[in-house]
Amino acid sequence: MGSLQAILYEAGPPARLKILDQRLLPFETEYVEVPNAGTAWTCIKDMQVRGAPAIAVTAALSLAVDLINGGSGNQFSSAQDALLYTSQQLEHVVTSRPTAVNLADAARKLKATATRASTVPAASADDVVRAVVAASQAIFEDDISDNKAIGHHGAAALLAAVNSAGSGSQGRQQLRVLTHCNTGSLATASYGTALGVVRSLHEQGRLERIFCTETRPFNQGSRLTAFELVHDGLPGTLLVDSAAGALLASGQVDAVVVGADRVAANGDTANKIGTLSLATNAAKCGVPFFVAAPLTTLDPDTPTGADIHIEQRPAEEVTELQGRPIAAPGIKVWNPGFDVTPAALIYGIITEAGLVPTSPSGSFDVAGIKACPS
Ligand code: MRU
Repeated sequence: MGSLQAILYEAGPPARLKILDQRLLPFETEYVEVPNAGTAWTCIKDMQVRGAPAIAVTAALSLAVDLINGGSGNQFSSAQDALLYTSQQLEHVVTSRPTAVNLADAARKLKATATRASTVPAASADDVVRAVVAASQAIFEDDISDNKAIGHHGAAALLAAVNSAGSGSQGRQQLRVLTHCNTGSLATASYGTALGVVRSLHEQGRLERIFCTETRPFNQGSRLTAFELVHDGLPGTLLVDSAAGALLASGQVDAVVVGADRVAANGDTANKIGTLSLATNAAKCGVPFFVAAPLTTLDPDTPTGADIHIEQRPAEEVTELQGRPIAAPGIKVWNPGFDVTPAALIYGIITEAGLVPTSPSGSFDVAGIKACPS
């Protein structure tokens, strides 16, 4: 079986972008064409594609496809014209989902690229298009290599933490790891962040078991992570979210590793709802809790977790299952898509540049991390 691909891209011309419709998994494998940023907006909003890196890559490549194919009738009369169109598309696509910073980061980089290209003396519309397309494709390609590096650093970090003095699991050759949501090939360009760490442990023969939570209400764990684990032959066990505390307390977990949607300047981390409960329980049980994320998820412009905009999801995600009611009609619903884990509960943040441990004050200098060489 080949590796799972959430995003299929052909540079053409004509260029093509297709995304695996993740709402249908694990029962149907159907790809959807994404010819422009307008369609990307809908696919991201409706969670046909999800996961912080994957939505950023989809937004970037959708614009590249549109520009290469001239599909929106965009025969630009000047470099300024091409810049204006690019900026408008990017401003729209970033409004699709608010919490993951990777999308805003990709849009900011592409706009800066278009602006730079358009201000070169005698620049043409084609120069701007070429520059934006190259930058979009680089976002896609970098995500793959970054995930491999995260996996490599993360495997070493988990093994070191588990074997450090004072760890209840000291001396274990193969780790038992707990994860949440989906952070694998389906959430990224390929390989994955937190699940990339798990993959890397498995490749080295150092993984005994990967426990994954169901991740209500969208079930990214049971529908997507479980699917990836079975597809790739990793030793996986699925549990309902409410069993995670008992699992940690039972001593069956050596380390927890999750992804992130935004890491604030002090290291507070927004990730899928339920992450905070895992981190709190892990701290209580003395199990090291890691966050794995590319540098593009670190946001030095957001001071603390309290400043992160948490997306509220529709009530129907909680009150219905595949269109059928499962809750008493008329009940009110609180359905945040994400929560914030304080930096003090995080043992370390694993990036493509390496592991950044928490400081003694229980925070991170995210601006410093961004500046560190990879
Ligand atoms: O709502 P989702 O499925 O987009 O949420 C995804 C998560 O919270 C992931 O943990 C995060 O985006 C990292 S994906 C590598």
